[in-house]
Amino acid sequence: MSDQYLVRIEGKNTDIAVEETQSILDAALRANEWLPHSCTQGTCGTCKLKVLRGEVDHRQTPEYTLTVEERAEGLALGCMATPRSDLTVEPLGNVSDDGVPRHPLRDYEGTVVVLDDIAANTRRLVIELDTPMQFNAGQYAELIVPEHAGARQYSMANPPTETRRLEFHIKLTAGGLSTDGWIFRSMTLGERVSLRGPLGQFNLVAKQDEPAILIGGGTGLAPLKSIVQHALVEDLVPELFLYHGGRRREDLYDVEFFRDLEHRHPHFHYRPVLSEEQWEGATGLVTDVVVSDFPSCKGMSAFLCGPPAMVDAAVKALKRRRMAPRLIFREEFAITPATSTAPAVL
Ligand SMILES: Cc1cc2nc3c(=O)[nH]c(=O)nc-3n(C[C@H](O)[C@H](O)[C@H](O)COP(=O)(O)OP(=O)(O)OC[C@H]3O[C@@H](n4cnc5c(N)ncnc54)[C@H](O)[C@@H]3O)c2cc1C
Ligand code: FES
Repeated sequence: MSDQYLVRIEGKNTDIAVEETQSILDAALRANEWLPHSCTQGTCGTCKLKVLRGEVDHRQTPEYTLTVEERAEGLALGCMATPRSDLTVEPLGNVSDDGVPRHPLRDYEGTVVVLDDIAANTRRLVIELDTPMQFNAGQYAELIVPEHAGARQYSMANPPTETRRLEFHIKLTAGGLSTDGWIFRSMTLGERVSLRGPLGQFNLVAKQDEPAILIGGGTGLAPLKSIVQHALVEDLVPELFLYHGGRRREDLYDVEFFRDLEHRHPHFHYRPVLSEEQWEGATGLVTDVVVSDFPSCKGMSAFLCGPPAMVDAAVKALKRRRMAPRLIFREEFAITPATSTAPAVL
């Protein structure tokens, strides 16, 4: 059995027990102590914290996320650092109660019940869990890659009311351990899978006065599908615009599903966009189409998800259209080899 240390989060009164091989973030979320985080793989920096007392092991923390100077100042990434002694840490991000429900991180087991090819190099994976998972629309889970210590992040596409059946949209990454090596190669119906969740702070849970623009690139549609269904059922937004960007027609999926929602909800608008094929719908880069549809985005909010380059372009475009930065929420499907060596959870 590995050693355990006690970690105190500055401003909170409880000490969390953390195994020496467990990340500080993992232990905190399991104890239902919320800490800011996004990617849980060392790439975004959202989970930075200051170590006020004690020593950590930075493990595979990349230098581009935490510089040598930052380490010397006592900073660490909560999702990567493990304790080497009892600690007191202070998160740099906002930990104040923002009214978002928090669901503790847990391990789950489930069975693959759907594994369909739905678009070019894209699969829908549905896992029937043995026990229900509570989560917020927009959050993700980590699938544990069999016979490997690593895990990969995939966003839930189903609404949070469906706690036993998790739907994922997965894009093939050539040479990728989880996709090329497992989900697109050997995974079968009936296979048992291990996962953990929920994770992430990308969500839409509270009623808001602003209309929302949702922009998804490729399988970046997944968390937006969850958000759309949740927002429509709960009547959370006065008007909702969903843009889904792909290169060619074969990249689009769930078109009929969203068209049907559009017919049933007059304040929901769905616009698929193709960048490399002329067709009856919108053509061009998805962000350019949004910009041409909205001369001003003042007083609106946005939820962006997909490859980092698309998300960055969308943020710039929306700011140019005068959207307030605090109303722009983003989830990046960053891919990094570092994910294969993220700290194991016990
Ligand atoms: C918060 C979040 C949510 C996500 N949600 C989704 C989702 O809903 N749907 C989705 O499709 N994806 C999603 N992703 C991306 C997903 O988690 C994986 O990163 C993606 O599926 C690739 O995983 P992989 O194991 O197949 O590839 P990896 O094995 O991680 O490889 C990635 C790339 O790195 C290369 N590579 C691997 N090892 C090395 C090495 N040692 N040196 C150099 N290059 C190397 C590979 O060839 C490949 O090109 C999400 C990511 C994040 C961060
Ligand atoms: S770097 Fe830790 S959550 Fe992204």
